[in-house]
Amino acid sequence: MTSTQPRRSGQVHLNAFLKPPGEFLAAWRHPHAVADAGVNIRHVIELARTAERGTFDAIFLADLVGVPLTSQEVLSRVSVVNDSFEPTTLLAALATATTRIGLVATASTTYNEPYHLARTFASLDHLSGGRAGWNLVTSLNDAEAQNFGLDSHVEHELRYARAAEFHDVVTGLWDSFDDDAFRHDQTAGVYFDPEKIHWLNHAGTHFRVSGPLNIARPPQGRPVVVQAGASETGRDLAARVGEVIFTAHPTLPGAQAYYADIKTRAAAAGRDPDHVIVLPALSTIVGRTQAEAEDKIAALRSLLDPRVALADLSYRLGGFDLTAFPLDGPLPELPPSNQSLSGQRQIVDQARANNLTIRQLADQIARDDRTLVGTPTTVADHIEEWFDQRAADGFNVIFPYLPDALNDFVDLVIPELRRRGLFRTAYTGRTLREHLGLPRPPSRYASRSVAST
Ligand SMILES: Cc1cc2nc3c(=O)[nH]c(=O)nc-3n(C[C@H](O)[C@H](O)[C@H](O)COP(=O)(O)O)c2cc1C
Repeated sequence: MTSTQPRRSGQVHLNAFLKPPGEFLAAWRHPHAVADAGVNIRHVIELARTAERGTFDAIFLADLVGVPLTSQEVLSRVSVVNDSFEPTTLLAALATATTRIGLVATASTTYNEPYHLARTFASLDHLSGGRAGWNLVTSLNDAEAQNFGLDSHVEHELRYARAAEFHDVVTGLWDSFDDDAFRHDQTAGVYFDPEKIHWLNHAGTHFRVSGPLNIARPPQGRPVVVQAGASETGRDLAARVGEVIFTAHPTLPGAQAYYADIKTRAAAAGRDPDHVIVLPALSTIVGRTQAEAEDKIAALRSLLDPRVALADLSYRLGGFDLTAFPLDGPLPELPPSNQSLSGQRQIVDQARANNLTIRQLADQIARDDRTLVGTPTTVADHIEEWFDQRAADGFNVIFPYLPDALNDFVDLVIPELRRRGLFRTAYTGRTLREHLGLPRPPSRYASRSVAST
């Protein structure tokens, strides 16, 4: 951090992206890894408790509702996509094993119904005492679609139209009961005030939902809505409904442009831009010295099978099979991806800009050069610079391998951030909204004197 840069007031928000046994595809092979981490509840609880010791705002669980299409031979060499707990179920368990940290799970608007999700996340919010968050995604690939009666993934714009309506139905259902509806008056025999229940009676393009939801309004009013729109339509949805926005921009100017764009769109949608928290991804490997950090990533990279690297590249490019093309030739022209257009574009740009062959590109992607490999000082410098330069309100911290990368972040980086006054030393709030500095939304019926029944 150079002294010429103005110091921005406030503190960063940190979200722990927990993908046991780590983000790196070969992480499960690391000698310190728990090989069956994805389905080992004791291990996952330990990770959540470590993140809570580090006073992270929240832990986050990603999700796919299927196994991406690829060969059995390759699939059998990776763990994460094949063998992990369903996130909302897991969060219910983690709610009882932690006390303060926020709990965010991913759930798809394309392959769910809103009543189910409204109920699940309302329950999670009650179970956790107001710590639940929903990462609203439209899902990513054909393999998911094929588990829900379709041949291929729903088209991008249609997914987002459904997602927008889905969100509005879910938040409407969360308001089914007024906050003070329940009297539990055993003597009078009145469980709740009859005028404080509301039928949604939604009839839209994609859904007809009568309501009401069969559970009290969530402690947070609404669980926190997380979104990661990158396309034009995705950004519009993020700016309209997202309270935490994940992004994956690798460079400071790109992240600044995205940050400014989302805040502007949020203001245009009538929202307070400070209540839209932008968290770019930050993958780190930390050592007490730079050499120690470099050794750690070299050891990790040596575990990756090249067949897995090539399959991963194909997947990231939109499920496009690259095995038919010469490995030492250029990347062919690709049809636009229907899973993540922006993700595909970034990789194609990387290949073209550096004149890479398919083999070189697969190697670069697999090596994961975006991971910040450094000391507590260099990692804290990066966080401080991006925060001060309004590229981020905090970070979605990704751990290439677990538990080591999380332990190192908590034991080495967080003390340095606290020393700089950039991060909390203890939780001051109880709910995820309080950690994030987000207001508790009033019910849509709060200003009405007569209930709409
Ligand atoms: C940090 C991060 C985590 C994400 N996690 C998931 C996930 O768990 N499941 C999923 O289907 N999509 C996930 N996505 C994809 C986004 O929902 C979104 O589709 C992607 O950013 C592309 O944006 P677009 O849909 O506007 O094109 C994630 C994106 C980011 C940046």
